[in-house]
Amino acid sequence: MLRNLGALAAAAFVVAGGAAYGGSWDERVFPPGAHVDFDAVAAAGPSALPALIDRGRVLFKAKFTTVDGAGRPKATQAIVPTRRKAGVNPPFTRTSGPDSNSCFGCHNDPVEGGSGDDVANAFVSEGFESAQFDTVDPSFSSERHTIALMGAGLVELLAREMTADLQAIRAAAVKEACQSGKAVRADLVSKGVRFGWIEAHPDGIVDLDSVDGVDADLIVRPFSRKGVFTSLRQFTINALNVHHGMEAVERFGARWTGTHDFAESGVPDAITAGDVSALVAFQATLPPPAVKTGLPGDWRAAAAEGEKQFDAIGCPSCHVKTLPLKSLVFTDPAPYDMAGTLRSGEVEAPIVIDLSVLPFAKTLQKNDQGAWLIPLMSDLKRHLVVDEQVNALGNELQAQRFVERDVFLTPRLWGVGSTAPYGHIGAFRMLDEIIAAHGGDARFSRDQYLALDPDKRDAVVAFLRALAIEAPR
Ligand code: HEC
Ligand code: HEC
Repeated sequence: MLRNLGALAAAAFVVAGGAAYGGSWDERVFPPGAHVDFDAVAAAGPSALPALIDRGRVLFKAKFTTVDGAGRPKATQAIVPTRRKAGVNPPFTRTSGPDSNSCFGCHNDPVEGGSGDDVANAFVSEGFESAQFDTVDPSFSSERHTIALMGAGLVELLAREMTADLQAIRAAAVKEACQSGKAVRADLVSKGVRFGWIEAHPDGIVDLDSVDGVDADLIVRPFSRKGVFTSLRQFTINALNVHHGMEAVERFGARWTGTHDFAESGVPDAITAGDVSALVAFQATLPPPAVKTGLPGDWRAAAAEGEKQFDAIGCPSCHVKTLPLKSLVFTDPAPYDMAGTLRSGEVEAPIVIDLSVLPFAKTLQKNDQGAWLIPLMSDLKRHLVVDEQVNALGNELQAQRFVERDVFLTPRLWGVGSTAPYGHIGAFRMLDEIIAAHGGDARFSRDQYLALDPDKRDAVVAFLRALAIEAPR
C-alpha cells in the first residue's frame, strides 16, 4: 500500500528538524511520511489504486505551503531546470508564476478537473529557457485558457496508440527501402487521421518534409492548446513547477541538477515519483464528458438537426467524432517520454490502471473490431487556423517547441458546452463567435457555417451545448 499513507489520519508526526506536526489542523499537505512511494504502489497492484486516486484528488486540490516546498525563489518556470539569472522570485507572480496555490485554483469549472474562468489563464513561455518575464506582452509569453481534464486518460491512450502506428509505418518503410534498394513513400495514417507522408531511402534516411500536424519524431502529443506535451506525467511535472514551485525529484532532483533543492525553496525533494503518479492517476481516471440527458424536446430536436449540419459542413474533418481505442489499460510511466520525466526503463514495474473497470467504461460503445469508440471530437492533430482575412486566432507571437504561431491542436469538443469562454486564449464568449473565427485550414468549413440559415447555425450551437461536463464522478 502507499507508504505511511494510512497514518495520515493520526494526530502527531515529528518533522525532521524537530518542529512538531500540530495535528489535523496543520496547514501542510505533506506531513512526514505522507509522500507516495512509487515502487510500493506498483508492487501492490490494483488494490492500491483507489487510495492512489484519492490521494491524487487531494493533491490536485491541495494548497501547497512553504513547509511543503512551495515557491521557487531561484528557479524559472522553464521545462528544463533553469535558474533565474538574477534576483529572487516572489512567492506568487501572476505572469511567470508561481501563479496559483493549487491545480484546482484553475481547473475547477464546472467541477474539479475542469476548465477555468479567464481569470485563471496561464502565461506560457516558449518552454525551454527564456521563462523569466514580468509582463503580459505577447512577445514574452502566450496567454492560454485552462483545458478541462475530463477523459484525459483516454486521450493519452489514443495518442500512444497513434504514435505506435506512425512509428511502425516509418520502420516498415525504412526496412522496405533498405531491402529493395529503392525509395519508399508511405502515408502516415492512424485511426483514419492522415499526418502527411514520408519517403524512406535505401541508406536509411527518411525525408520528413511532408509530415503534417505532428512532430518529426512522429510522437502524437495530445496535451496543451498547441499539442506539444506527450503525457499527463510530463505535463503534471511542468505544472507543479510552473504554477506552484513544487519540484519533482525525477526532473529537478540530484540526478539531473546535482542538488536536492534546485529552486532553493528550503525543502529538499518536494515531490516524489509516487506523488506525481497520484496526480496522474486522478487525472487519467476522470470520466469523459457526456451528452446531456433530460433535455427539453425542442433542444433535442435542434441538437439532432445541428449534428446533421455539423457533419455536412465538414467540422468532423478535424473534430472527428470518435476515435477507436484498442486497449483501456493505462500504464504509468508512459512509453514516449524523454529524460526528466520518469520512464518505463527506470522503474522495476509500472503502475497499471485498467480504465475498463471504471463505471464510465460502460458508457463507451465499441466498433465491430472490438475497439472502444472514444467520442472526443478531435483528431489529435495540429492545424493552421489563421489566414489573411480570418485572423482572430492569430494573436500569439511566439512559436512553441518548433510549432508555428498560428497552428493549434484540434481541441476536443466533448465537453465544450461547459467550458465557455472559447479559443486558446478564451477570448470568445459564444460558440458562434469561435466558429466564425476559424481561418486557415478550417476556412472552408467555417465559410459554409456562416452561409447557413440562422436557425441552422443555431442548431449547431444546440448540438455543441449538449456536450457537457456533468457532475463529478
Ligand atoms: C494558473 C492556472 C492553472 C493551474 C494552477 C494549473 N493549470 Fe493545468 N492548465 C492551465 C492552462 C491554461 C492549460 C493550457 C496550457 C497550454 O495550452 O499551454 C492547462 C493544461 C493542463 C493540462 C493539459 C490538458 C490537455 O488536455 O491539454 C494538464 C494535464 C494540466 N493542465 C494539469 C494540471 C495540474 C496537474 C496542475 C497542478 C499541479 C495544473 N494543471 C495547474 C491552467 C492551469
Ligand atoms: C481544419 C480543422 C478544423 C475544422 C475543419 C474545424 N475546426 Fe473547430 N477548431 C480547430 C482548432 C485547431 C481549434 C482551436 C482554435 C484555437 O483555440 O486557437 C478549434 C476550435 C473550435 C472550438 C472551440 C473549442 C474550445 O474549447 O475553445 C469550437 C466550438 C469549434 N472549433 C467548432 C467547430 C465547428 C462547429 C466546425 C465546423 C464549422 C469546426 N470547428 C471546424 C480545428 C478545426
